Amino acid sequence: MNDLKKIRNFSIIAHIDHGKSTLADRLIQICGGLTDREMKEQVLDSMDIERERGITIKAQTVCLKYKAEDGNKYILNLMDTPGHVDFSYEVSRSLAACESSILVVDSTQGVEAQTLANAYQAINSNHEIIPVLNKKDLPASEPVKIKDQIENIIGISSSDSILVSAKTGEGVKNLLEKIVKKLPPPQGNLDAPLKSLLVDSWFDVYLGVVVLVRVIDGSLKKGQKIKFMASNAAYTIDRVGIFNPKIQEVDTLGPGEIGFINANIKSVSDCRIGDTITTEKHPTQKVLSGFKPSQPVVFCGMFPIDTVDFKQLRDSMEKLSLNDSSFMYEPEVSPALGYGFRCGFLGLLHLEIIQERLIREFNLNLITTAPSVVYQITLKDKKVINIHNPTDMPDPMKVDYIEEPWIKATIILPEEYLGSILQLCTERRGEQIDLTYSGSRAILTYNLPLNEVVFDFYDRIKSISRGYASFDYEIIGYEINDLV
Ligand code: GTP
Repeated sequence: MNDLKKIRNFSIIAHIDHGKSTLADRLIQICGGLTDREMKEQVLDSMDIERERGITIKAQTVCLKYKAEDGNKYILNLMDTPGHVDFSYEVSRSLAACESSILVVDSTQGVEAQTLANAYQAINSNHEIIPVLNKKDLPASEPVKIKDQIENIIGISSSDSILVSAKTGEGVKNLLEKIVKKLPPPQGNLDAPLKSLLVDSWFDVYLGVVVLVRVIDGSLKKGQKIKFMASNAAYTIDRVGIFNPKIQEVDTLGPGEIGFINANIKSVSDCRIGDTITTEKHPTQKVLSGFKPSQPVVFCGMFPIDTVDFKQLRDSMEKLSLNDSSFMYEPEVSPALGYGFRCGFLGLLHLEIIQERLIREFNLNLITTAPSVVYQITLKDKKVINIHNPTDMPDPMKVDYIEEPWIKATIILPEEYLGSILQLCTERRGEQIDLTYSGSRAILTYNLPLNEVVFDFYDRIKSISRGYASFDYEIIGYEINDLV
């Protein structure tokens, strides 16, 4: 167990490709988590697809030891998070497990849509934030301009920001010093009844079901009888450990610490993310507030090209869903395509990634139908039904009204492309909510029907702006529309 005052828990958040995973590599290297021989690029992106595409899909946690200039030894729990909008759910979980955030901004690009979305999430979680201006080694780096953007667009002070190159490691030591000096230690009470947050869970071939936890009060140890409060399931802990980033068993996890436990848990579905873990004997009285469940918003059908592969497809989907609680699937029969599944995803990238994993990791040949969204139909008898397939549409005579999902989109773009982007949003039935400027960049807020966005909206924004605009969205709810 570690001294609370010497622990710092932080998430690394950023827009996609601004250098989070590379910065995490440098932090791990400087703290001696891995030897130079063990180090490979973006160690925390462990899936093949993550490494090939250079994107983070799954949030990862590492526990590092750092000896600061003041001579004290600190424990740093770092959570690397995905940058893409489809995986913002992963970001919210990491934020809930930490007290602080490191906001990485590419100093050649500036504040982008996901920088803003993730920074707001961190602010709403009451996080202390250190802005980090990355890619200082590149000639196009403009730290002064980017510091202004951080203040004007996000609205947080950038006077404490640190300029680094995650690639060469320059400035990263200064960042570590700033982390131990500026970020607050966690708070907690060792003597209070056990209260810990179930941050994540997944299936590991060596460890079985792994439960990532953040201890708030009390402590977790091997042999202890614990209870998951939401599911009311009881288990005995078999192993307690941390990732440094290799697996290391420890005796205890105390207040403020982040690590994992193994117990005799049969299935990942028994672990409700956001649940409170306590002891059977002296349960905590206060349950943690948990997380909003993640909702799939994009749906498509997936069918095996060869019908004999149906069973293999079902087994593969079951395996994938074990490690990805946001992926949903249910059997579907199509007159043209035969037996298959209707699947729900967090967005188009999520769909693409699951599809690619089914093809590559499970050797399946698939037909995927065009993506669609969920429509909420209220019938004349006031019954509400959800449909994501036009073939399920009830008799129009019975329908009172139809609602479709809407999003609030934030688009950050260079001013010269504003006219064309406004035109695109209008064509897609958008309603303008706000337009502000920071220097020569426009920050545009629009409400749009999700259905108009799922197909090629992002690609169109990218091509109109020659890749300079960024886009982020959140679901705001359902609105009545005259739909056919
Ligand atoms: P996601 O995981 O997809 O959200 O991206 P990320 O923010 O983790 O970015 P990543 O670390 O994958 O870096 C994106 C690209 O920028 C990679 O090609 C890195 O090699 C490069 N990069 C990161 N930091 C630096 C830097 O300091 N200097 C230079 N020149 N390149 C960098």
